[in-house]
Amino acid sequence: MTNLNRSLGILMVTLSCQMLLTVMTQAAPQPQIRKQPFGTTTEKKSVDLYTLTNINSIEVSIMTYGGIVVSLKVPDRKGQLQEITLGYDTLDGYLKNNSPYFGALIGRYGNRIGKGKFSLGGREYRLATNNGESHLHGGVRGFDKAVWKQTEVRGQKSVGLKLDYVSADGEEGYPGALTVTVFYTLTNDNELKIEYAATTTKETIVNLTNHAYFNLGADANILKHEVMINADRFTPISEAFIPTGELKNVKGTPMDFTTLTAIGARINQKDEQLIRANGYDHNWVLNRKDGSLSLAARVEEPTSGRVLEVFTTEPGVQFYTGNFLDGTIKGKAGKVYQQRAGFCLETQHFPDSPNKPNFPSTILKPGQKYATTTIYRFVVE
Ligand code: GLA
Repeated sequence: MTNLNRSLGILMVTLSCQMLLTVMTQAAPQPQIRKQPFGTTTEKKSVDLYTLTNINSIEVSIMTYGGIVVSLKVPDRKGQLQEITLGYDTLDGYLKNNSPYFGALIGRYGNRIGKGKFSLGGREYRLATNNGESHLHGGVRGFDKAVWKQTEVRGQKSVGLKLDYVSADGEEGYPGALTVTVFYTLTNDNELKIEYAATTTKETIVNLTNHAYFNLGADANILKHEVMINADRFTPISEAFIPTGELKNVKGTPMDFTTLTAIGARINQKDEQLIRANGYDHNWVLNRKDGSLSLAARVEEPTSGRVLEVFTTEPGVQFYTGNFLDGTIKGKAGKVYQQRAGFCLETQHFPDSPNKPNFPSTILKPGQKYATTTIYRFVVE
């Protein structure tokens, strides 16, 4: 073999290897995770923003402050990516404004505990009250205001962010030190999966959720979105938004979402529960046989074709239609959030369970492991 032939041979092999590599990387696109600094809190703690992207261009950004979903972009039926959550563009937005829990992790207790107190093991505990007489979404400094420790997780078909936080014994009035892990995963099947886990040093109560506000379309409100909630019953509330304890059948009421119905179809009816909450702000009792992951709700936005499906292991879901939004918040891209600009589907145990013996228990004992899963799945139709 001449030197020229040998050189040509080597060149050919090198080129083929390079071509093969290019083909391989093109054939198997990978989900991505990217980190960027996102500012510092008032206590000078630095906050990072992680952007997770799957192979279908779905993109979710989560920050370490509050484990907040800052942005979520999904395609419509023409493939157009659009922001579908409410919130702010910057950390300052969340710190300076009184954020109504936009995209936040909620703990230790999702929704209200009446009069901010409950008894456990023969002792009465008093929690911080931050909503009239009630304790709401974990109190004055809930998990939505904590800076979480982060770990990136890379898989073949998904990318994830693991967030850890230890809530001290006595924080906001709760007994026991609670070690919490929340695991966000974005899969190539267009699912944003949230796994919550916790352990405690003393008997306590726990009920974790996420408070993302969605608007799947381009309208300023969500009234044309169609909703199905897989529930035959809901928990009616008192004037203080505390469940009365009754599990009421939805049949014949504007709470009946057993078949897809536009949010705006009945929201202004002269129904006592709707008047009380100024719209939908109630917990639905999900139809389920056991604690396995099952469909809780489905939301369709007819113009864009975007569909959101919610799966959970939890027994309930709080369907909230942004009734407290009043046009005073200027959010992402300068958008002013008027009433009903977004809706929430907060998977959870029922509000005020610690004071309602007939509701599924929210008690966690030392040695037990709290573990729940919720999936937000995005589809186009
Ligand atoms: C929840 C509650 C509402 C309201 C919002 C936050 O979903 O059920 O009543 O407090 O959070 O504004």
